[in-house]
Amino acid sequence: METASAKSVFFVLLLSLLSLHVFSLSFSPIDNYLIDCGSTVDATVDNRLFVSDSSCADSSYLLLASSSRSVQLSDRIYDSARFFDRPSRYVFKIRDQGTHMVRLHFHQFNSSKIDFDDAQFHVLVNNYVVLSNFSGGHQMSSPVVKEYLIWVDTEKLVLTFFPTKKSKFAFVNAIEVISAPKDLILDTAQFVNGDKVENFDRLTKQALEVIHRVNVGGVKVTPFNDTVWRTWVPDDQFFRSIDVSRRVYFGGRIKYQDGGASREVGPDNVYGTARVIASANASIPNVNMTWDFPVIDGYKYLIRLHFCDIASISLGLLYFNVYVNENLAYKDLDLSFVTGYALASPFYADFVVDGDHSGVLSVSVGPSNKSIEYAIDGILNGVEIMKMNKSMGILDGELCEGVILKSWPRTNISLWFAFLAAVCVLLSLSVFVTRKKRNEGKNSVAWSKLPMDVSEVNSSHGNQQMSGKL
Ligand SMILES: *[C@@H]1O[C@H](CO)[C@@H](O)[C@H](O)[C@H]1NC(C)=O
Ligand SMILES: *[C@@H]1O[C@H](CO)[C@@H](O)[C@H](O)[C@H]1NC(C)=O
Ligand SMILES: *[C@@H]1O[C@H](CO)[C@@H](O)[C@H](O)[C@H]1NC(C)=O
Ligand SMILES: *[C@@H]1O[C@H](CO)[C@@H](O)[C@H](O)[C@H]1NC(C)=O
Ligand SMILES: *[C@@H]1O[C@H](CO)[C@@H](O)[C@H](O)[C@H]1NC(C)=O
Ligand SMILES: *[C@@H]1O[C@H](CO)[C@@H](O)[C@H](O)[C@H]1NC(C)=O
Ligand SMILES: *[C@@H]1O[C@H](CO)[C@@H](O)[C@H](O)[C@H]1NC(C)=O
Repeated sequence: METASAKSVFFVLLLSLLSLHVFSLSFSPIDNYLIDCGSTVDATVDNRLFVSDSSCADSSYLLLASSSRSVQLSDRIYDSARFFDRPSRYVFKIRDQGTHMVRLHFHQFNSSKIDFDDAQFHVLVNNYVVLSNFSGGHQMSSPVVKEYLIWVDTEKLVLTFFPTKKSKFAFVNAIEVISAPKDLILDTAQFVNGDKVENFDRLTKQALEVIHRVNVGGVKVTPFNDTVWRTWVPDDQFFRSIDVSRRVYFGGRIKYQDGGASREVGPDNVYGTARVIASANASIPNVNMTWDFPVIDGYKYLIRLHFCDIASISLGLLYFNVYVNENLAYKDLDLSFVTGYALASPFYADFVVDGDHSGVLSVSVGPSNKSIEYAIDGILNGVEIMKMNKSMGILDGELCEGVILKSWPRTNISLWFAFLAAVCVLLSLSVFVTRKKRNEGKNSVAWSKLPMDVSEVNSSHGNQQMSGKL
Protein backbone atom coordinates (compact mmCIF):
# COMPACT_ATOMS: atom_id res chain seq x y z
CA MET A 1 0.00 0.00 0.00
CA GLU A 2 2.71 2.35 0.98
CA THR A 3 4.60 1.87 -2.23
CA ALA A 4 1.40 2.49 -4.18
CA SER A 5 0.79 5.77 -2.44
CA ALA A 6 4.45 6.65 -2.75
CA LYS A 7 4.16 5.96 -6.46
CA SER A 8 1.14 8.18 -6.82
CA VAL A 9 2.87 10.93 -4.90
CA PHE A 10 5.79 10.56 -7.22
CA PHE A 11 3.41 10.63 -10.17
CA VAL A 12 1.71 13.80 -8.94
CA LEU A 13 5.09 15.34 -8.34
CA LEU A 14 6.18 14.36 -11.82
CA LEU A 15 2.99 15.82 -13.26
CA SER A 16 3.47 19.08 -11.44
CA LEU A 17 7.10 19.19 -12.54
CA LEU A 18 5.94 18.60 -16.08
CA SER A 19 3.32 21.31 -15.81
CA LEU A 20 5.91 23.64 -14.32
CA HIS A 21 7.99 22.92 -17.35
CA VAL A 22 5.05 23.68 -19.61
CA PHE A 23 4.34 26.94 -17.79
CA SER A 24 7.90 28.02 -18.16
CA LEU A 25 7.62 27.82 -21.93
CA SER A 26 6.61 31.01 -23.61
CA PHE A 27 2.94 31.64 -24.25
CA SER A 28 1.72 30.31 -27.59
CA PRO A 29 -1.75 31.56 -28.47
CA ILE A 30 -4.19 29.32 -30.37
CA ASP A 31 -5.52 32.21 -32.44
CA ASN A 32 -2.62 34.29 -33.66
CA TYR A 33 -3.30 36.46 -36.69
CA LEU A 34 -0.72 39.04 -37.67
CA ILE A 35 -1.58 40.90 -40.85
CA ASP A 36 0.60 43.34 -42.75
CA CYS A 37 -2.11 45.28 -44.56
CA GLY A 38 -1.62 46.55 -48.08
CA SER A 39 1.76 44.94 -48.47
CA THR A 40 2.66 42.45 -51.17
CA VAL A 41 5.28 40.76 -49.05
CA ASP A 42 5.28 39.43 -45.50
CA ALA A 43 7.13 41.42 -42.87
CA THR A 44 9.02 40.19 -39.84
CA VAL A 45 8.89 42.45 -36.80
CA ASP A 46 10.68 41.37 -33.62
CA ASN A 47 10.69 37.73 -34.77
CA ARG A 48 6.96 37.83 -35.54
CA LEU A 49 5.72 37.19 -39.05
CA PHE A 50 3.10 39.66 -40.27
CA VAL A 51 1.44 38.05 -43.28
CA SER A 52 0.57 40.15 -46.32
CA ASP A 53 -3.15 40.46 -47.03
CA SER A 54 -2.72 41.02 -50.76
CA SER A 55 -3.64 37.57 -52.02
CA CYS A 56 -6.96 37.67 -50.23
CA ALA A 57 -7.99 41.19 -51.04
CA ASP A 58 -10.31 42.21 -53.81
CA SER A 59 -8.23 44.17 -56.32
CA SER A 60 -10.52 47.15 -55.91
CA TYR A 61 -8.96 47.79 -52.51
CA LEU A 62 -5.97 49.95 -52.87
CA LEU A 63 -2.78 48.87 -51.35
CA LEU A 64 -0.28 51.54 -50.89
CA ALA A 65 3.39 51.58 -50.21
CA SER A 66 5.12 54.55 -48.75
CA SER A 67 7.20 56.30 -51.38
CA SER A 68 9.93 57.22 -48.94
CA ARG A 69 10.55 54.99 -45.97
CA SER A 70 10.58 56.99 -42.82
CA VAL A 71 14.02 56.72 -41.33
CA GLN A 72 13.11 56.47 -37.68
CA LEU A 73 10.66 53.62 -38.14
CA SER A 74 12.33 50.29 -38.46
CA ASP A 75 9.04 48.42 -38.51
CA ARG A 76 8.21 47.36 -42.04
CA ILE A 77 4.51 47.12 -41.22
CA TYR A 78 4.27 50.92 -41.36
CA ASP A 79 5.55 51.06 -44.95
CA SER A 80 2.19 50.05 -46.36
CA ALA A 81 -1.49 50.47 -45.66
CA ARG A 82 -4.74 49.24 -47.08
CA PHE A 83 -7.41 51.76 -48.01
CA PHE A 84 -11.16 51.32 -48.07
CA ASP A 85 -13.47 53.69 -49.87
CA ARG A 86 -16.53 51.75 -48.72
CA PRO A 87 -17.43 49.61 -45.70
CA SER A 88 -15.08 46.64 -45.62
CA ARG A 89 -14.26 43.85 -43.28
CA TYR A 90 -11.74 41.31 -42.20
CA VAL A 91 -13.17 38.10 -40.81
CA PHE A 92 -11.03 35.99 -38.51
CA LYS A 93 -11.94 32.44 -37.67
CA ILE A 94 -11.79 32.00 -33.90
CA ARG A 95 -10.75 28.59 -32.59
CA ASP A 96 -10.21 29.58 -28.97
CA GLN A 97 -13.23 31.27 -27.41
CA GLY A 98 -12.60 33.83 -24.71
CA THR A 99 -10.76 37.10 -24.42
CA HIS A 100 -8.84 38.19 -27.51
CA MET A 101 -6.29 40.94 -27.87
CA VAL A 102 -6.92 43.06 -30.94
CA ARG A 103 -4.28 45.60 -31.96
CA LEU A 104 -4.73 48.00 -34.83
CA HIS A 105 -1.75 49.88 -36.23
CA PHE A 106 -2.16 53.22 -37.99
CA HIS A 107 0.47 55.42 -39.52
CA GLN A 108 -0.09 58.19 -42.03
CA PHE A 109 2.69 58.75 -44.49
CA ASN A 110 3.43 61.11 -47.36
CA SER A 111 1.84 60.15 -50.61
CA SER A 112 1.17 61.96 -53.85
CA LYS A 113 -1.83 59.74 -54.57
CA ILE A 114 -3.67 59.86 -51.27
CA ASP A 115 -4.65 62.87 -49.22
CA PHE A 116 -4.75 61.71 -45.63
CA ASP A 117 -6.96 64.66 -44.75
CA ASP A 118 -9.75 62.55 -46.22
CA ALA A 119 -9.21 59.72 -43.77
CA GLN A 120 -12.24 59.61 -41.48
CA PHE A 121 -13.78 56.37 -40.40
CA HIS A 122 -15.36 54.17 -37.77
CA VAL A 123 -14.02 50.77 -36.73
CA LEU A 124 -16.09 47.94 -35.27
CA VAL A 125 -14.87 44.75 -33.63
CA ASN A 126 -17.84 42.38 -33.76
CA ASN A 127 -20.65 44.53 -32.31
CA TYR A 128 -18.40 46.97 -30.47
CA VAL A 129 -17.69 50.43 -31.84
CA VAL A 130 -14.01 50.79 -30.97
CA LEU A 131 -13.15 53.87 -33.02
CA SER A 132 -15.49 56.58 -34.19
CA ASN A 133 -14.77 59.45 -36.56
CA PHE A 134 -11.13 58.45 -36.46
CA SER A 135 -8.47 59.86 -38.77
CA GLY A 136 -5.57 57.52 -38.04
CA GLY A 137 -3.32 59.95 -36.20
CA HIS A 138 -1.22 62.59 -37.88
CA GLN A 139 1.40 62.59 -40.54
CA MET A 140 4.93 62.95 -39.26
CA SER A 141 3.99 61.70 -35.83
CA SER A 142 4.73 58.20 -34.65
CA PRO A 143 2.37 55.33 -35.41
CA VAL A 144 -0.83 54.96 -33.40
CA VAL A 145 -1.44 51.51 -31.94
CA LYS A 146 -4.90 50.85 -30.52
CA GLU A 147 -5.33 47.82 -28.32
CA TYR A 148 -8.55 46.13 -27.25
CA LEU A 149 -9.46 43.15 -25.13
CA ILE A 150 -12.66 41.65 -26.47
CA TRP A 151 -14.56 38.59 -25.30
CA VAL A 152 -15.39 36.40 -28.31
CA ASP A 153 -17.78 33.48 -27.89
CA THR A 154 -18.66 33.20 -31.56
CA GLU A 155 -16.69 31.45 -34.26
CA LYS A 156 -15.65 34.66 -35.94
CA LEU A 157 -14.15 37.96 -35.09
CA VAL A 158 -15.27 40.56 -37.60
CA LEU A 159 -13.34 43.77 -37.99
CA THR A 160 -15.27 46.39 -39.94
CA PHE A 161 -13.79 49.59 -41.40
CA PHE A 162 -16.45 52.13 -42.18
CA PRO A 163 -15.71 55.48 -43.89
CA THR A 164 -17.87 58.22 -42.34
CA LYS A 165 -19.14 59.22 -45.77
CA LYS A 166 -18.58 58.51 -49.44
CA SER A 167 -15.99 61.26 -49.81
CA LYS A 168 -13.89 59.82 -46.98
CA PHE A 169 -11.82 56.67 -46.69
CA ALA A 170 -10.59 54.27 -44.03
CA PHE A 171 -7.16 52.72 -43.78
CA VAL A 172 -5.10 50.40 -41.62
CA ASN A 173 -1.42 49.40 -41.65
CA ALA A 174 -1.42 46.23 -39.58
CA ILE A 175 -3.73 44.06 -37.51
CA GLU A 176 -3.11 41.65 -34.65
CA VAL A 177 -5.81 39.28 -33.38
CA ILE A 178 -4.45 37.04 -30.64
CA SER A 179 -6.16 34.83 -28.08
CA ALA A 180 -5.28 36.15 -24.64
CA PRO A 181 -3.87 33.96 -21.88
CA LYS A 182 -6.79 32.56 -19.84
CA ASP A 183 -5.61 34.29 -16.69
CA LEU A 184 -5.17 37.72 -18.25
CA ILE A 185 -8.60 39.07 -17.34
CA LEU A 186 -10.42 37.51 -14.40
CA ASP A 187 -14.12 37.96 -13.91
CA THR A 188 -14.21 39.97 -10.69
CA ALA A 189 -12.62 43.29 -9.74
CA GLN A 190 -13.20 45.75 -6.88
CA PHE A 191 -15.49 48.66 -7.71
CA VAL A 192 -14.26 51.69 -5.78
CA ASN A 193 -17.08 54.18 -5.43
CA GLY A 194 -16.52 56.86 -2.80
CA ASP A 195 -16.07 55.12 0.56
CA LYS A 196 -17.54 51.89 -0.75
CA VAL A 197 -15.52 49.05 -2.24
CA GLU A 198 -17.69 46.30 -3.68
CA ASN A 199 -17.39 43.45 -6.18
CA PHE A 200 -17.59 44.25 -9.87
CA ASP A 201 -18.56 41.03 -11.65
CA ARG A 202 -18.60 39.92 -15.29
CA LEU A 203 -15.45 41.86 -16.06
CA THR A 204 -14.39 39.43 -18.79
CA LYS A 205 -17.56 40.19 -20.76
CA GLN A 206 -16.75 43.90 -21.04
CA ALA A 207 -14.88 45.20 -24.05
CA LEU A 208 -11.76 47.02 -22.88
CA GLU A 209 -9.46 49.48 -24.57
CA VAL A 210 -5.97 49.86 -23.15
CA ILE A 211 -5.43 53.58 -22.54
CA HIS A 212 -2.22 53.61 -20.47
CA ARG A 213 0.27 50.85 -19.75
CA VAL A 214 3.09 52.00 -17.56
CA ASN A 215 6.28 50.43 -16.24
CA VAL A 216 6.77 52.31 -12.97
CA GLY A 217 10.35 53.33 -12.27
CA GLY A 218 11.59 51.49 -15.33
CA VAL A 219 12.32 51.86 -19.00
CA LYS A 220 10.08 51.35 -21.97
CA VAL A 221 9.26 47.68 -22.53
CA THR A 222 8.74 46.86 -26.19
CA PRO A 223 6.68 44.00 -27.69
CA PHE A 224 9.98 42.17 -28.20
CA ASN A 225 10.48 41.96 -24.44
CA ASP A 226 6.87 41.36 -23.41
CA THR A 227 5.32 37.94 -23.03
CA VAL A 228 2.21 38.91 -25.00
CA TRP A 229 3.75 41.61 -27.22
CA ARG A 230 2.57 44.66 -25.29
CA THR A 231 4.26 48.02 -24.95
CA TRP A 232 4.84 49.52 -21.48
CA VAL A 233 5.98 53.13 -21.29
CA PRO A 234 8.01 54.75 -18.46
CA ASP A 235 5.95 56.55 -15.80
CA ASP A 236 7.78 59.91 -15.72
CA GLN A 237 5.04 61.87 -17.50
CA PHE A 238 2.40 60.61 -15.02
CA PHE A 239 4.29 60.71 -11.75
CA ARG A 240 3.91 63.66 -9.35
CA SER A 241 7.50 63.86 -8.34
CA ILE A 242 8.29 63.89 -4.58
CA ASP A 243 11.59 63.91 -2.74
CA VAL A 244 11.23 60.86 -0.54
CA SER A 245 10.48 58.41 -3.32
CA ARG A 246 13.13 56.59 -5.26
CA ARG A 247 13.38 54.12 -8.09
CA VAL A 248 14.45 50.56 -7.42
CA TYR A 249 15.77 47.99 -9.83
CA PHE A 250 16.00 44.27 -9.15
CA GLY A 251 18.45 42.12 -11.06
CA GLY A 252 17.40 38.80 -9.52
CA ARG A 253 14.77 36.34 -10.57
CA ILE A 254 11.09 37.31 -10.28
CA LYS A 255 9.28 34.49 -8.44
CA TYR A 256 6.16 33.78 -10.47
CA GLN A 257 3.88 31.42 -8.55
CA ASP A 258 0.93 29.29 -9.58
CA GLY A 259 -2.28 31.15 -8.86
CA GLY A 260 -0.48 34.48 -8.61
CA ALA A 261 0.29 36.99 -11.32
CA SER A 262 1.84 35.09 -14.20
CA ARG A 263 4.56 36.20 -16.56
CA GLU A 264 1.78 36.86 -19.11
CA VAL A 265 0.07 39.23 -16.66
CA GLY A 266 3.29 41.20 -16.31
CA PRO A 267 6.78 40.45 -17.62
CA ASP A 268 10.00 40.41 -15.56
CA ASN A 269 10.96 43.84 -16.88
CA VAL A 270 7.86 45.36 -15.28
CA TYR A 271 8.01 43.56 -11.94
CA GLY A 272 11.75 44.10 -11.73
CA THR A 273 11.49 47.89 -11.42
CA ALA A 274 9.45 50.10 -9.11
CA ARG A 275 9.22 53.34 -7.20
CA VAL A 276 9.20 53.15 -3.42
CA ILE A 277 8.73 55.33 -0.38
CA ALA A 278 11.43 54.45 2.12
CA SER A 279 11.84 55.43 5.73
CA ALA A 280 15.52 56.00 6.49
CA ASN A 281 15.10 56.92 10.14
CA ALA A 282 12.74 56.58 13.06
CA SER A 283 9.91 58.45 11.34
CA ILE A 284 7.61 57.24 8.59
CA PRO A 285 7.33 59.77 5.75
CA ASN A 286 3.88 61.30 5.74
CA VAL A 287 3.47 61.39 1.96
CA ASN A 288 1.89 59.51 -0.92
CA MET A 289 3.33 58.72 -4.30
CA THR A 290 0.72 59.76 -6.85
CA TRP A 291 0.28 59.18 -10.57
CA ASP A 292 -2.25 61.09 -12.71
CA PHE A 293 -3.64 59.56 -15.89
CA PRO A 294 -5.67 61.56 -18.39
CA VAL A 295 -8.94 59.82 -19.28
CA ILE A 296 -12.19 60.67 -21.02
CA ASP A 297 -15.30 61.28 -18.95
CA GLY A 298 -18.37 59.06 -19.29
CA TYR A 299 -16.76 55.62 -19.11
CA LYS A 300 -15.86 53.16 -16.40
CA TYR A 301 -12.18 52.28 -16.15
CA LEU A 302 -10.37 49.15 -15.08
CA ILE A 303 -7.23 50.03 -13.15
CA ARG A 304 -4.75 47.20 -12.79
CA LEU A 305 -1.95 47.84 -10.31
CA HIS A 306 1.12 45.61 -10.34
CA PHE A 307 3.15 45.06 -7.18
CA CYS A 308 6.24 43.03 -6.44
CA ASP A 309 8.29 43.51 -3.29
CA ILE A 310 11.76 43.81 -4.78
CA ALA A 311 12.87 46.38 -2.19
CA SER A 312 12.32 45.03 1.35
CA ILE A 313 15.20 43.32 3.09
CA SER A 314 12.93 40.68 4.58
CA LEU A 315 9.35 39.48 4.76
CA GLY A 316 6.63 41.19 6.77
CA LEU A 317 8.12 44.68 6.74
CA LEU A 318 6.03 46.30 4.00
CA TYR A 319 2.53 47.63 4.62
CA PHE A 320 0.88 50.41 2.68
CA ASN A 321 -2.41 51.85 1.53
CA VAL A 322 -3.59 52.10 -2.06
CA TYR A 323 -5.94 54.88 -3.20
CA VAL A 324 -7.68 55.38 -6.51
CA ASN A 325 -9.24 58.75 -7.22
CA GLU A 326 -8.33 59.63 -3.61
CA ASN A 327 -10.53 56.86 -2.23
CA LEU A 328 -9.04 54.13 -0.10
CA ALA A 329 -9.04 51.05 -2.36
CA TYR A 330 -6.79 48.64 -0.47
CA LYS A 331 -6.00 49.14 3.21
CA ASP A 332 -2.77 47.86 4.79
CA LEU A 333 -1.72 45.89 1.73
CA ASP A 334 0.75 43.25 2.93
CA LEU A 335 2.61 41.87 -0.07
CA SER A 336 4.24 39.14 2.02
CA PHE A 337 0.84 37.80 2.98
CA VAL A 338 -0.81 37.97 -0.45
CA THR A 339 2.12 36.22 -2.13
CA GLY A 340 2.20 33.39 0.40
CA TYR A 341 5.32 34.79 2.08
CA ALA A 342 7.74 35.26 -0.75
CA LEU A 343 9.79 38.29 -1.71
CA ALA A 344 10.09 39.33 -5.35
CA SER A 345 6.83 37.53 -6.07
CA PRO A 346 4.33 39.45 -8.21
CA PHE A 347 0.80 40.41 -7.25
CA TYR A 348 -1.77 42.53 -9.01
CA ALA A 349 -5.06 44.14 -8.01
CA ASP A 350 -7.92 45.15 -10.31
CA PHE A 351 -10.10 48.15 -9.46
CA VAL A 352 -13.00 49.63 -11.37
CA VAL A 353 -13.89 53.31 -11.10
CA ASP A 354 -16.15 55.77 -12.87
CA GLY A 355 -14.29 58.36 -14.91
CA ASP A 356 -15.34 61.73 -13.52
CA HIS A 357 -15.41 65.25 -14.93
CA SER A 358 -11.86 66.03 -13.89
CA GLY A 359 -10.53 64.13 -16.90
CA VAL A 360 -7.89 62.61 -14.63
CA LEU A 361 -7.72 59.32 -12.86
CA SER A 362 -5.32 59.25 -9.94
CA VAL A 363 -3.53 56.37 -8.26
CA SER A 364 -1.74 56.86 -4.93
CA VAL A 365 0.34 54.62 -2.75
CA GLY A 366 1.36 55.68 0.74
CA PRO A 367 2.23 54.53 4.24
CA SER A 368 -0.53 52.88 6.27
CA ASN A 369 -1.09 52.69 10.00
CA LYS A 370 0.87 49.44 9.96
CA SER A 371 3.90 50.84 8.15
CA ILE A 372 7.25 50.30 9.84
CA GLU A 373 10.21 52.66 10.42
CA TYR A 374 13.54 51.96 8.74
CA ALA A 375 11.70 50.05 6.00
CA ILE A 376 9.93 50.40 2.69
CA ASP A 377 6.53 52.05 3.21
CA GLY A 378 5.02 51.98 -0.26
CA ILE A 379 5.76 50.44 -3.64
CA LEU A 380 4.30 50.31 -7.15
CA ASN A 381 5.74 48.43 -10.14
CA GLY A 382 3.24 48.90 -12.95
CA VAL A 383 -0.12 50.38 -13.89
CA GLU A 384 -2.60 49.58 -16.63
CA ILE A 385 -5.64 51.75 -17.28
CA MET A 386 -8.35 50.31 -19.50
CA LYS A 387 -11.52 51.98 -20.72
CA MET A 388 -14.65 49.85 -20.48
CA ASN A 389 -17.43 49.90 -23.08
CA LYS A 390 -20.46 51.91 -22.10
CA SER A 391 -23.97 50.78 -22.93
CA MET A 392 -24.72 49.81 -26.57
CA GLY A 393 -21.16 48.48 -26.89
CA ILE A 394 -19.58 51.90 -27.43
CA LEU A 395 -15.89 52.43 -26.69
CA ASP A 396 -15.52 55.65 -28.67
CA GLY A 397 -17.85 58.41 -29.83
CA GLU A 398 -21.60 58.39 -29.44
CA LEU A 399 -22.77 56.18 -32.29
CA CYS A 400 -23.69 52.55 -31.74
CA GLU A 401 -23.25 49.75 -34.26
CA GLY A 402 -26.81 50.01 -35.62
CA VAL A 403 -26.54 53.73 -36.33
CA ILE A 404 -23.19 53.33 -38.07
CA LEU A 405 -24.38 50.46 -40.25
CA LYS A 406 -27.38 52.55 -41.30
CA SER A 407 -25.27 55.60 -42.04
CA TRP A 408 -23.88 54.37 -45.35
CA PRO A 409 -25.85 55.90 -48.26
CA ARG A 410 -28.21 53.52 -50.01
CA THR A 411 -31.10 53.99 -52.37
CA ASN A 412 -33.88 51.97 -50.80
CA ILE A 413 -34.66 49.56 -48.05
CA SER A 414 -34.78 46.46 -50.22
CA LEU A 415 -31.19 47.11 -51.24
CA TRP A 416 -30.35 47.16 -47.57
CA PHE A 417 -31.73 43.66 -47.16
CA ALA A 418 -29.90 42.54 -50.25
CA PHE A 419 -26.79 43.85 -48.63
CA LEU A 420 -27.39 41.91 -45.45
CA ALA A 421 -28.02 38.77 -47.45
CA ALA A 422 -24.90 39.38 -49.45
CA VAL A 423 -22.95 39.59 -46.24
CA CYS A 424 -24.37 36.28 -45.07
CA VAL A 425 -23.48 34.59 -48.35
CA LEU A 426 -20.01 36.06 -48.30
CA LEU A 427 -19.53 34.88 -44.75
CA SER A 428 -20.25 31.34 -45.77
CA LEU A 429 -17.75 31.61 -48.58
CA SER A 430 -14.89 32.62 -46.33
CA VAL A 431 -11.58 31.99 -47.96
CA PHE A 432 -8.95 30.31 -45.89
CA VAL A 433 -5.38 30.89 -46.65
CA THR A 434 -2.74 28.74 -45.08
CA ARG A 435 0.81 29.75 -45.25
CA LYS A 436 3.82 28.11 -43.88
CA LYS A 437 6.51 30.04 -42.25
CA ARG A 438 9.65 29.05 -44.10
CA ASN A 439 11.49 27.38 -41.27
CA GLU A 440 8.98 26.54 -38.60
CA GLY A 441 6.33 25.24 -40.93
CA LYS A 442 3.66 25.34 -38.25
CA ASN A 443 2.45 28.89 -38.42
CA SER A 444 -0.93 28.49 -40.04
CA VAL A 445 -3.01 31.49 -40.87
CA ALA A 446 -6.67 31.35 -41.73
CA TRP A 447 -8.57 34.47 -42.48
CA SER A 448 -10.53 36.18 -45.17
CA LYS A 449 -11.22 39.68 -46.23
CA LEU A 450 -14.70 40.46 -47.40
CA PRO A 451 -15.75 43.58 -49.21
CA MET A 452 -19.24 44.80 -48.49
CA ASP A 453 -20.88 47.61 -50.28
CA VAL A 454 -24.46 48.68 -50.57
CA SER A 455 -24.82 51.02 -53.46
CA GLU A 456 -22.16 49.34 -55.53
CA VAL A 457 -23.94 46.00 -55.48
CA ASN A 458 -25.93 46.78 -58.61
CA SER A 459 -23.52 48.99 -60.48
CA SER A 460 -21.22 46.10 -61.32
CA HIS A 461 -17.72 47.48 -61.40
CA GLY A 462 -18.69 50.90 -60.12
CA ASN A 463 -16.09 52.89 -58.35
CA GLN A 464 -12.63 51.74 -59.20
CA GLN A 465 -10.64 54.92 -59.13
CA MET A 466 -9.17 53.85 -55.83
CA SER A 467 -7.81 50.67 -57.30
CA GLY A 468 -4.36 49.88 -58.42
CA LYS A 469 -0.99 49.90 -56.90
CA LEU A 470 1.24 52.89 -56.49
C1 LIG B 1 6.06 64.98 -46.16
O1 LIG B 1 5.68 66.08 -46.95
C2 LIG B 1 5.88 67.34 -46.33
C3 LIG B 1 5.33 68.43 -47.24
O2 LIG B 1 5.18 68.01 -48.52
C4 LIG B 1 7.37 67.50 -46.06
O3 LIG B 1 7.60 68.74 -45.41
C5 LIG B 1 7.84 66.37 -45.16
O4 LIG B 1 9.23 66.45 -44.96
C6 LIG B 1 7.52 65.03 -45.79
N1 LIG B 1 7.83 63.99 -44.83
C7 LIG B 1 8.52 62.89 -45.14
C8 LIG B 1 8.72 61.91 -44.03
O5 LIG B 1 8.95 62.66 -46.24
C1 LIG C 1 -15.59 64.15 -36.97
O1 LIG C 1 -14.28 64.74 -36.97
C2 LIG C 1 -14.21 65.92 -37.72
C3 LIG C 1 -12.77 66.39 -37.75
O2 LIG C 1 -11.97 65.71 -36.85
C4 LIG C 1 -15.14 66.97 -37.12
O3 LIG C 1 -15.11 68.13 -37.89
C5 LIG C 1 -16.57 66.41 -37.09
O4 LIG C 1 -17.41 67.32 -36.42
C6 LIG C 1 -16.61 65.10 -36.37
N1 LIG C 1 -17.92 64.53 -36.49
C7 LIG C 1 -18.56 63.97 -35.48
C8 LIG C 1 -19.91 63.40 -35.79
O5 LIG C 1 -18.07 63.89 -34.37
C1 LIG D 1 14.92 43.83 -24.03
O1 LIG D 1 15.31 43.86 -22.67
C2 LIG D 1 16.71 43.83 -22.47
C3 LIG D 1 16.97 43.71 -21.00
O2 LIG D 1 16.09 44.50 -20.25
C4 LIG D 1 17.32 45.09 -23.08
O3 LIG D 1 18.71 45.08 -22.91
C5 LIG D 1 16.98 45.12 -24.57
O4 LIG D 1 17.45 46.33 -25.13
C6 LIG D 1 15.48 45.02 -24.79
N1 LIG D 1 15.21 44.88 -26.19
C7 LIG D 1 14.25 45.57 -26.82
C8 LIG D 1 14.12 45.35 -28.27
O5 LIG D 1 13.52 46.33 -26.24
C1 LIG E 1 14.01 61.56 8.93
O1 LIG E 1 14.52 61.89 7.63
C2 LIG E 1 13.74 62.87 6.95
C3 LIG E 1 14.28 63.03 5.56
O2 LIG E 1 15.45 62.36 5.37
C4 LIG E 1 13.80 64.17 7.72
O3 LIG E 1 13.03 65.15 7.06
C5 LIG E 1 13.26 63.93 9.11
O4 LIG E 1 13.39 65.09 9.88
C6 LIG E 1 14.00 62.79 9.80
N1 LIG E 1 13.33 62.51 11.06
C7 LIG E 1 13.97 62.24 12.17
C8 LIG E 1 13.14 61.92 13.36
O5 LIG E 1 15.17 62.25 12.21
C1 LIG F 1 -2.68 60.00 0.64
O1 LIG F 1 -3.78 60.14 -0.24
C2 LIG F 1 -5.04 59.88 0.36
C3 LIG F 1 -6.08 60.00 -0.71
O2 LIG F 1 -5.96 61.19 -1.41
C4 LIG F 1 -5.27 60.86 1.49
O3 LIG F 1 -6.48 60.56 2.13
C5 LIG F 1 -4.14 60.77 2.48
O4 LIG F 1 -4.29 61.76 3.47
C6 LIG F 1 -2.84 60.99 1.77
N1 LIG F 1 -1.75 60.81 2.71
C7 LIG F 1 -0.81 61.73 2.85
C8 LIG F 1 0.24 61.42 3.85
O5 LIG F 1 -0.78 62.76 2.19
C1 LIG G 1 -5.15 55.03 11.04
O1 LIG G 1 -5.37 55.12 12.41
C2 LIG G 1 -6.14 56.25 12.80
C3 LIG G 1 -6.15 56.32 14.31
O2 LIG G 1 -6.20 55.05 14.87
C4 LIG G 1 -7.53 56.13 12.21
O3 LIG G 1 -8.30 57.26 12.57
C5 LIG G 1 -7.41 56.08 10.72
O4 LIG G 1 -8.68 55.85 10.13
C6 LIG G 1 -6.50 54.94 10.30
N1 LIG G 1 -6.27 55.08 8.88
C7 LIG G 1 -6.52 54.09 8.05
C8 LIG G 1 -6.29 54.38 6.61
O5 LIG G 1 -6.90 53.01 8.42
C1 LIG H 1 -20.58 46.63 -22.36
O1 LIG H 1 -21.32 45.95 -23.35
C2 LIG H 1 -22.03 44.81 -22.89
C3 LIG H 1 -22.77 44.20 -24.04
O2 LIG H 1 -22.02 44.15 -25.17
C4 LIG H 1 -23.01 45.20 -21.82
O3 LIG H 1 -23.63 44.04 -21.32
C5 LIG H 1 -22.29 45.91 -20.72
O4 LIG H 1 -23.23 46.36 -19.76
C6 LIG H 1 -21.50 47.10 -21.25
N1 LIG H 1 -20.73 47.67 -20.17
C7 LIG H 1 -21.05 48.79 -19.55
C8 LIG H 1 -20.14 49.22 -18.45
O5 LIG H 1 -22.02 49.45 -19.87
